[in-house]
Amino acid sequence: MNTGEILRSVPDLPDHEVRRLLEAASGRHWTELILGVDLTTGDVEVFRSLVERRRLGEPLQYIEGVVPFGPVDVAVDPRVLIPRPETEQLFELACSIVNEPRVIVDLCTGSGNLALALKHACRAASVYATDLSSDAIALARQNAVANSLDVTFLQGDLFGPLPGHLKGRVDLIVSNPPYVAESEAPALPSEVRDYEPRISLVAGPVGDEFLKRIAASAPEWLRPEGVVVCEISEFHGQAVAAHFANLGGEIRRDLSGKDRFVIGAARQ
Ligand SMILES: C[S@@+](CC[C@H](N)C(=O)[O-])C[C@H]1O[C@@H](n2cnc3c(N)ncnc32)[C@H](O)[C@@H]1O
Repeated sequence: MNTGEILRSVPDLPDHEVRRLLEAASGRHWTELILGVDLTTGDVEVFRSLVERRRLGEPLQYIEGVVPFGPVDVAVDPRVLIPRPETEQLFELACSIVNEPRVIVDLCTGSGNLALALKHACRAASVYATDLSSDAIALARQNAVANSLDVTFLQGDLFGPLPGHLKGRVDLIVSNPPYVAESEAPALPSEVRDYEPRISLVAGPVGDEFLKRIAASAPEWLRPEGVVVCEISEFHGQAVAAHFANLGGEIRRDLSGKDRFVIGAARQ
């Protein structure tokens, strides 16, 4: 079968998804495929199985297995949240407000996307990242190896696993913590609710529980003038600004104009 025949054989999925599934199945770039290469029977069988997974609702990124995030590519699977465009904006925001950081901490690291992108951007920095999920930490470590980046990934609760000698020495804390309220979880799109880990989404009864804890503990870890930048729910701007009042909490919006980030700075 050639590429045109394959595209026409899956009318129920958007063309751009079929193209990506075909690239994933064949290991060939789209530019090669449109030149009209004949696909092997094996390629077509793999493609059909990927199409079935997608039809059942599995996120495209889990099927492809890798997503680009800023300057790095990270492997993703159902052990971790799929990195979102807003979080890439968090990475860019963090890069724009620190100058040659020496110590960076990423809390709730998941696939390691933020920690690895920051290490790529700030080569001289020591980067530490934590996650409660040992499955996520295992994948983040694989991603560090795949990107040839040296990041220390530690399993445990928020700041808990960080070495004590970092207290008062951290230049930058970043985090994209869980921020969905328990009551909001049933209304999440099924692609999110049924496939991404609940531990990466749901924070507690209110949704801002992790941000409250980060705001309370950050001053102990930041050096004078150190900064903390976190992703937040669009519904929690005011509440999170209040939690971060001790750090001068400033709320920033995402590209669609929604409250999405909080920036705090340690008092000197
Ligand atoms: C929203 S995901 C963010 C993942 C990744 N940083 C990203 O931006 O795509 C939140 C992560 O927090 C982790 N997590 C949940 N509870 C935690 C806790 N108490 N301490 C540390 N990490 C936790 C989850 O396992 C999940 O990987």
